[in-house]
Parts: sequence; structure tokens; C-alpha cells
Amino acid sequence: MIDFINDYLTPVYSDFLQSESLNDLCELKSFYFDGTDVPDYTNPLIQQYYLLKFAPAYIWEYKRLYDYAYIKNSFHKIYSFGCGAGLDLAGQYLSLKKNLTSVDYKGLDLVDWNYKPFPVSTNINYAVNDIDSISKETLKDRNILFFPKSLSEFSDSKFNHLFDAIQNTNFIEPEICLIISSTDSKDEPRFESIVKGFISRGYIYKFSEYDGFYNWKNESPSKGIKSIDYCFDYPDEIKEHLNNLTSMCLKKNCADNSCNIDIWPVLTTKNMYFAHTILVKN
Ligand SMILES: C[S@@+](CC[C@H](N)C(=O)[O-])C[C@H]1O[C@@H](n2cnc3c(N)ncnc32)[C@H](O)[C@@H]1O
Repeated sequence: MIDFINDYLTPVYSDFLQSESLNDLCELKSFYFDGTDVPDYTNPLIQQYYLLKFAPAYIWEYKRLYDYAYIKNSFHKIYSFGCGAGLDLAGQYLSLKKNLTSVDYKGLDLVDWNYKPFPVSTNINYAVNDIDSISKETLKDRNILFFPKSLSEFSDSKFNHLFDAIQNTNFIEPEICLIISSTDSKDEPRFESIVKGFISRGYIYKFSEYDGFYNWKNESPSKGIKSIDYCFDYPDEIKEHLNNLTSMCLKKNCADNSCNIDIWPVLTTKNMYFAHTILVKN
């Protein structure tokens, strides 16, 4: 995993250094999350900053989710809603011991992100579109529906559209795995309404293990990921650079003395809040 993270971050970091010398860094002040008020993901500098901060921890979390989602033996036909760069596919790849031959991946996002760990191929596709373009035809051949840190970002009307599309889909596969990684309090009720939607259509839980969300951020707050998994790491050089960004901004005459764009990459479990369940057609 360490090699994968290093290889993944190298071009992101080198482009970030390049962007830094071309731009002042004030744009990074707009990098915050508050419900549907989110950073401008179309901005390449914001994408780089996001990935340098979150990608290793998120890839690790998604790997861990796939390790524990009990779906090892089937062919994985994934739909990733709000897939971004496709970090969830990287987690899947690492969980499957660097092998994607049993995976067919379709991701959808409003933004065509740079830095996809895996390019388009016969079994990997990314649609650049709004969630409200999804129909029952889009989803019917899928058996894994994944919401990677995205569900709370959809407006209420778009979420309602998505909910109806899922409810109206006649899934070909008898088993459907639902997975969410959460960022916001809106995620939980939304995900649970999707689960209940399946139950209302006669699906049952495959295992009795599903007991809602796993909340690592409360159970082991700020536990270092590396202390759980020695295969996880983050390059020191990038970490130190991100921690001294404010002093590197080229806008020297800026009047905003309170500005602080330094970031720590996420290296702990504090952002980890997730759920998964498998539902079976009765
Ligand atoms: C926090 S990011 C997560 C990205 C990625 N899944 C990850 O794990 O890093 C949320 C993503 O949801 C996407 N998104 C938000 N609203 C959307 C919509 N209405 N339709 C499609 N994608 C949307 C954003 O463009 C963004 O890429």
C-alpha cells in the first residue's frame, strides 16, 4: 500500500508545486465543507489540495470497507455515486490484492477529476454528469452501490431523484451490496432510507451483522492509521510542505494576517464513519 500511495501522490504533488509557483494560494482559503457548501472541485489546485490531504486516508478506508463487506466471491459490478477521482476503486484494487479482473466499475460525478488512479478501460468507466441523470436503466446490472463521501453533497431534490431511481430499478442480480463512507450528518438518514427502500420491496439482510454505522471517529478518536495497519504511510516531504504553505504564498502584500492555509494530511481514523450491508431478493 505504501508504494501505491507514493506512486499516486507523486504527480499530484509535482503539479501542486507547479500550480503554487503560478498562482497565489488565496484560492485555498475557500477549501472547507459545510453541508452542500463545498470547495470548487473544478479548480485543479483545489483537486490537488484535496487529494494531498485526503487520498491516502480515504483509499485506506475504502480498502478496509471492501475487506469487511463480505463480498469477496462475486463479480463486482460497482456503481460509485459522486466518484471524484475514483479513490474507492483504488481501495477495491488494494483489497483484491492488486487485481481488478473481477471488477466492472462505473463512476459518476459532476466533475471530470484529474488524477484517476485507473484510466478508462473496457471495465472502468466514469460518466461526467449530475446525479439526477441516473435512471433505473443505469443501475439494473449493478450489484454494489457505493457512496464514497458524497451522499450528503446532493441537494434534497437530487437525492429524491436518486432514491426514486434506485427504488424503481429491477436489479438483475439477486444480491445488492450497499456501502457508504460518510462525511456529514445528512449521510446517515439518507443511506438508511435507501436500505429501508430495499426492505420495503421485499429484500432481506443477507447477514444479521448490519447494525448501522461504524463510528471510528468516536470509538478511537485520532488513532493513527499506521498504528492499525503498518502498511499505511504518508511521504514526509509532502507532509512538511503542506504544513508550511502559508509562508509560501506569493501574495506577499496580502492584508489578511489571519490567513492560514497550512494543512495536515489525514493520518488518523477521525474522518471514518461508514456502513455496509448486503440485501437479498426474497
Ligand atoms: C467529497 S467529494 C468525494 C469524492 C470522492 N468520492 C472521494 O472519495 O474522494 C464529493 C463528490 O461528489 C460530487 N457531487 C456533488 N454533487 C453531485 C451531483 N449532484 N451529481 C454528481 N456528483 C456530485 C462532487 O463533484 C465530488 O466529486
